[in-house]
Amino acid sequence: MTTILSIQSAVAYGHVGNSAAVFPMQRLGVEVWPVSTVLFSNHTGYGQWRGPLVAPSDVREVVTGVEERGALAEVDAVLSGYQGGEEIGAAILDAVARTKAANPEAIYACDPVMGNAKSGCFVHPAIPVLLRDEVVPQADLITPNQFELGFLTETEPADLGSTLAAVDRAREMGPSTVLVTSVLRPDRPSDTIEMLACHEDEAWIVRTPHLPLKANGSGDVTAALFTTHWLRTGDLRVSLERTVSSVFALLQATLDSGRRELQLVQTQDAFADPACEFTAQRVR
Ligand SMILES: Nc1ncnc2c1ncn2[C@@H]1O[C@H](COP(=O)(O)OP(=O)(O)OP(=O)(O)O)[C@@H](O)[C@H]1O
Ligand SMILES: [Mg+2]
Repeated sequence: MTTILSIQSAVAYGHVGNSAAVFPMQRLGVEVWPVSTVLFSNHTGYGQWRGPLVAPSDVREVVTGVEERGALAEVDAVLSGYQGGEEIGAAILDAVARTKAANPEAIYACDPVMGNAKSGCFVHPAIPVLLRDEVVPQADLITPNQFELGFLTETEPADLGSTLAAVDRAREMGPSTVLVTSVLRPDRPSDTIEMLACHEDEAWIVRTPHLPLKANGSGDVTAALFTTHWLRTGDLRVSLERTVSSVFALLQATLDSGRRELQLVQTQDAFADPACEFTAQRVR
């Protein structure tokens, strides 16, 4: 049984953070243990929200409680997303260290959430620096979008060559596996978007249509699915194709619904049984 300790935000309304990531993983048969870092009404993209931040000391308490059940030894991966502040980051790294002490085979999958090319950085200015200098070096797998990859590596990845070079720099920092989301090469066919997966001497890229929407949480679902498929198969190409297939189906259904929030439950079959209609191309 694949088991993932997923330390992320929770919202009541809509789907971001754990409220986006947990259900797709469960549909894949993963045993997920969600730890909440905030308990909000809705994602902050609405400009208004209610509900508390979870104190970093309480995040640590919850992880300690899981540890006291002797359960950290069962964890195959710690997955983290948006890190609200430096102390939450430290609490996540502490959870990673305790998990790895209990199970040396466990990996840390870090989605280094900072922003995107369109909106720029949307987290507190201390967070990208913390992610680059403290968190990413502890990660085994990272899932930045192309913009975040640029910040982490202090480069400006654009075409395939510069993006692969940035991935190599990121891997020199610590992680052995890198999934780059929202790759927008200047020379791509119009209205397309790509995702690039790299591990050791292998790199695969897959292209889909670029749909006219920006749905919060797509990156959170992407990180969760890729982490699951990668743990399960160890096959980079298969993990990438399954992830892209499910995420595209989810976004297409969301666009068709005319709603703003990810249509997660409505597309549940796209997680357990991805159609894989997009074929990855080997680029290394
Ligand atoms: N408009 C879109 N059309 C097609 N695919 C998309 C679109 N938006 C996102 N995706 C897919 O979802 C993947 C992850 O989304 P994205 O890179 O936007 O995550 P993100 O930047 O982390 O965003 P967020 O954290 O707000 O969810 C992309 O690599 C792409 O495959
Ligand atoms: Mg993201």
